[in-house]
Amino acid sequence: MSTWLAGLEERARAVLPAPVVEYVAQGARESVTAAAAVGSWEAHRFLPHVLRDVTDVDPGVELLGRRSELPWGVAPTTLQRAVHPDGELAMARATHAAGGLVVVSSNAGTPFADIGATGARWWLQAYLPADRTLAEPMLARAVEAGAEAVVLTVDTPVVGTKHSVGESVWAGVDPAIVRVNFGPDHEERPGADKATDLGPHDLDWLGETTGLPVVVKGVLRPDDARRCVEAGAAAVWVSNHGGRQLDRASTTAAALPGVVAEVGADAQVYVDGGVRSGLDVLTALALGADAVFLGRPPVWALAEGEHGVARLHAELLDETVEAMRLAGCRTVADTRDLLEPAAVPAP
Ligand SMILES: Cc1cc2nc3c(=O)[nH]c(=O)nc-3n(C[C@H](O)[C@H](O)[C@H](O)COP(=O)(O)O)c2cc1C
Repeated sequence: MSTWLAGLEERARAVLPAPVVEYVAQGARESVTAAAAVGSWEAHRFLPHVLRDVTDVDPGVELLGRRSELPWGVAPTTLQRAVHPDGELAMARATHAAGGLVVVSSNAGTPFADIGATGARWWLQAYLPADRTLAEPMLARAVEAGAEAVVLTVDTPVVGTKHSVGESVWAGVDPAIVRVNFGPDHEERPGADKATDLGPHDLDWLGETTGLPVVVKGVLRPDDARRCVEAGAAAVWVSNHGGRQLDRASTTAAALPGVVAEVGADAQVYVDGGVRSGLDVLTALALGADAVFLGRPPVWALAEGEHGVARLHAELLDETVEAMRLAGCRTVADTRDLLEPAAVPAP
């Protein structure tokens, strides 16, 4: 990992308020899953191709039919404006300049219209409330502002308990930087709590309400991936929410191959969790992911503003391209047979 990437979290920790650092870093309960994520990709070993022309390497991918210059996107994260005043705008601008995609949390602290006005390519991430109709104005704002897809997060029927050492970030957070795309009294309305009864029919409802392709985020099991695809999902996103929901959930590195084997021919498969280096990106692609998403790294980078996010993309791209060259891969499609067969867990 480059020195700059290796020091990313430490530099952010030095400048951010302690409750914000804790909020970004924390995992659920004893953080078993959060801790296992980083390093989970490096258990795999490559069998590089040689005697191949790797003069021109293309790390780009298609995300729901549209090209991204980066084989990763920015995962949705809440409280970006607690990390930097420019929050989602800086994240969107820097990622757009790098030719990439941002997924914007429905908890975002920036109006969707302002994010759309940057010209960035973006998808909306949605949590659905118990009363689905309460989400409709927020969904309409996202569609109006140019969201190209809606990512339904399905691993959060309740928010997993986190143990805060100091003051919780929520005690001091300015209400003006969270959930600004809902009405002012949204949270007090009956039915505004997160839905505990999500089902495949909600994919249908979301697709019909927004007219957008639906991506399902937070899937770890092949049978659930199949249910999503049968219900019309355009893509399945293998995630354990950065270890912030069910502690002791499987690592995504372990879960990914089974999901790819089950639905990879019928839908796109994305993955996030603990991806920190170009070698991690290459491993996830070699395991069959159509793209990777990054949660904490762009948030730590955002502590250095738009420039920090731009540099994160540039450094990670350098590492990924170098790894592809050394592995004899000109394109992402070339990466699929890279891993030692023994290192691929049985589906
Ligand atoms: C600070 C923080 C806030 C998050 N907020 C959301 C959110 O609003 N919606 C969501 O679907 N996932 C959220 N996530 C989960 C991320 O989208 C992603 O799944 C996870 O961070 C990926 O793991 P990584 O941080 O190891 O890259 C959040 C994660 C973090 C670290």
